[in-house]
Amino acid sequence: MFGELLGINNLLENSWFWFGHQGWEYLDLGRFWQILLAIGLVFWLFLLFRSILPAMKSKKDSEITSLFLYAAIAIPLFYLPAFFFNGSTHYSVVDTWRFWIIHLWVEGFFELFVTVMVAIIFYKLGIIRQITALRVVYLDAILYLSGGIVGTAHHWYWIGHSNASIALGAIFSAMEVVPLTLLTLDAWDFIKLSNSDCETCGKKVSVPHKWTFYFLMAVGFWNFVGAGVFGFLINMPIISYFEVGTILTPNHGHAAMMGVFGMLALALAIFAFRQVLNDKAWESIEKYIRVSFWGLNLGLVLMVISNLFPVGVLQLLDVINNGYWHARSPEFLNQNIIRTLEWARLPGDMVFIVIGCLPLVIASLKSYMLLIRQKAN
Ligand code: HEM
Ligand SMILES: [Fe+2]
Repeated sequence: MFGELLGINNLLENSWFWFGHQGWEYLDLGRFWQILLAIGLVFWLFLLFRSILPAMKSKKDSEITSLFLYAAIAIPLFYLPAFFFNGSTHYSVVDTWRFWIIHLWVEGFFELFVTVMVAIIFYKLGIIRQITALRVVYLDAILYLSGGIVGTAHHWYWIGHSNASIALGAIFSAMEVVPLTLLTLDAWDFIKLSNSDCETCGKKVSVPHKWTFYFLMAVGFWNFVGAGVFGFLINMPIISYFEVGTILTPNHGHAAMMGVFGMLALALAIFAFRQVLNDKAWESIEKYIRVSFWGLNLGLVLMVISNLFPVGVLQLLDVINNGYWHARSPEFLNQNIIRTLEWARLPGDMVFIVIGCLPLVIASLKSYMLLIRQKAN
């Protein structure tokens, strides 16, 4: 970040590309730091590989474990296109590779990784059979990757690609909504799971991982609303032509990014907390997690409905009535209604931070301390 600061202020002269800000949204890190990031990702893969190696050797679990490894390899592998350009490459070429990473991470390989991860958790908890877990993984892999890979072209509509990109991008990315809807149905199953019999044991399941499932349900909800509905809303080429770069983009970005991958990261963190703590220790942090769950979700809902969505719609109307240049100018942004809606975002942000993030930080620190105490006993 220090490098970015220096780079933006033109203090790095010719080494801005290597140590400063590359000038690209999401790929802003200087190339040197980016190489370190890539090395870090490979190291992460090595750590994963090292811990799942014993499971890969076991005959029973080798297929599902290998799938997990392939899904993990895809993440650093598909980061490589971030190196396919330099400081003077043409805009169209850079933006092609840039979205190859941004889009394929969030709409392809992360989704796949998530599915495998959740399938494994369910299998390991004894809730589903191995064959069910494998079927879900294969089906989702086919659905995500067939829609998601060609669907990358929905970011290439207006960057200098041919008409084929527009046609293929529009059709295939529209298909991405299918697996997202299936995931939402999964979320519905999590709800039923809390008071049903399990597939393998036929008995009532007690759910020690209730809050993990709640966060997974939130993933399903935001997948549908944030990615499915708000993503689809701006997905058609004719809409994208007027909308691109307006607040409707962050409206979708916030709901999909925090909603899906933020909530997922928390589901996994809480899974880990519950797994390492005994029942008594867990009782003392569960309340923080309950509050945090509602704070985060309510905060995100408020951000979207009180600010991002309405400002996005007003801005889109302004593009249509007065032109793109006007909708991004101070004349538009300084109007009373837009200013008021900016302030209207404050309550949502506060709920998110104070009721959502803060209890979670407390829960994490408490878990750590309880774990140390547990070990000492
Ligand atoms: C969990 C899944 C998803 C995540 C995390 C996600 C995230 C994002 C983010 C952060 C952006 C902003 C990129 C930028 O600033 O240039 C974006 C743009 C976009 N997303 Fe998604 N997205 C997801 C799924 C989808 C789906 C399923 C669709 C459509 C069916 C979609 C359609 C789009 C479109 C068309 C844009 C470009 C909007 C523009 O530049 O105006 N996204 N997405
Ligand atoms: Fe995309």
